[in-house]
Amino acid sequence: MRTSRIPGFYKLPIEERLRKVVEFASLHEDDIELLRKWGNLEPKIADIMIENVIGTMSYPLAVAVNFLINKRDYMVPMVIEEPSVVAAASHAAKLTRESGGIDAIATDSIMIGQVQVVKVHDPAYKRILVLEHRDQILEIANEKDPILVKLGGGAKDLEVKIIESPLGPMLVVYLLVDVKDAMGANAVNTMCEAIAPYIQELTGGRVYLRIVSNLADRRIVRARTKVKKDVLGGEEVVEGILYAWAFAAADPYRAATHNKGIMNGVVAVARATAQDCRALEAGAHAYAAKGGVYRPLSIWEKDENGDLVGSLEMPMPVGIVGGATKVHPVARVSLKILGVKTARELAEVMGAVGLAQNLAALKALATEGIQKGHMRLHARNLAIMAGAPRDLVDKIAESMIREGNISYARAKELVEEFTYKS
Ligand code: MEV
Repeated sequence: MRTSRIPGFYKLPIEERLRKVVEFASLHEDDIELLRKWGNLEPKIADIMIENVIGTMSYPLAVAVNFLINKRDYMVPMVIEEPSVVAAASHAAKLTRESGGIDAIATDSIMIGQVQVVKVHDPAYKRILVLEHRDQILEIANEKDPILVKLGGGAKDLEVKIIESPLGPMLVVYLLVDVKDAMGANAVNTMCEAIAPYIQELTGGRVYLRIVSNLADRRIVRARTKVKKDVLGGEEVVEGILYAWAFAAADPYRAATHNKGIMNGVVAVARATAQDCRALEAGAHAYAAKGGVYRPLSIWEKDENGDLVGSLEMPMPVGIVGGATKVHPVARVSLKILGVKTARELAEVMGAVGLAQNLAALKALATEGIQKGHMRLHARNLAIMAGAPRDLVDKIAESMIREGNISYARAKELVEEFTYKS
């Protein structure tokens, strides 16, 4: 009988696991061949990264060009499945170059850990008691990561809040840890677990959760840029972008899509450098909703000359040491392409990319709409799939766009027509 209950599946060698999956899903020979292609992530590395590995899956790695960030040129590696994102980022970066590019600054890498204490009889009193023992608690936390402390990082401070919950008040200790060049979740979780028994003893309550918070609002990147109205295409384009932003500022339905556009850029760089994308997404959206209403992460305005100015502020918990960033060989190459020396610099680049991505989307939306660009790329892809030789790809794509018939069948016909002619 077909069952997914396979005791010890995780202990099997990769080939054995694959065999079980092949049986379960009746995969064909060519599916198996495909899953046996390991690309640039060797089986032994993939197998230690996660559990139950049966293969790898490749995505396109591209570089966005034209980025001038903090007066330095960057080629930005991006991994993404969506057409137009890389082209749009490069286009927007070019628009910002004429007025000095994008400036970005990240705060120190402060992550927050939470220790939840319930069943505290006198939470207000115990809150003060815990704060009184701040130094001892920080010491216990820091004993767990002497290397981080040596680098100037480690647990730096704590805050204690009384949170009203559906099950009554709880005391929550917020541990603030400077994780330096790491993403930091592991370091913070270890420290939270280490301080928990002492906190339990101090409060006489019961500790349950000890975990990092993904609302990384002490680890923020701020980016800003200016684009001259003439570079953008005139006053009307500036106005269109301002109305697009105002729409997002007034309506969470639009704000979610606005921020999704920002995350297109942020997540693409995050993937290329093997960051925890879910942490970035969670942090970004929670930050956007922090005031009680979901808001856009960027703001677009017009300066005294009528030029467009944009700014962005969002959490950016990224690392360049530890985790998948260190293990994945392509992530290491991506970091080399970027040439970033610290996690803060990586955060600054990613904030700048998010702002540029947002600019590109709003400009397209406020003018020709985004489908035209998408269609252009789609037409090129179809031409390539239909076997168009390199020098004919653009010609065939243009013909399909002109005819208003962008399809694989038409691409095939045109490939035959054009190759016959040439
Ligand atoms: C598509 O992936 C992203 C956009 O929808 C973003 C936006 O609407 O601002 C174009």
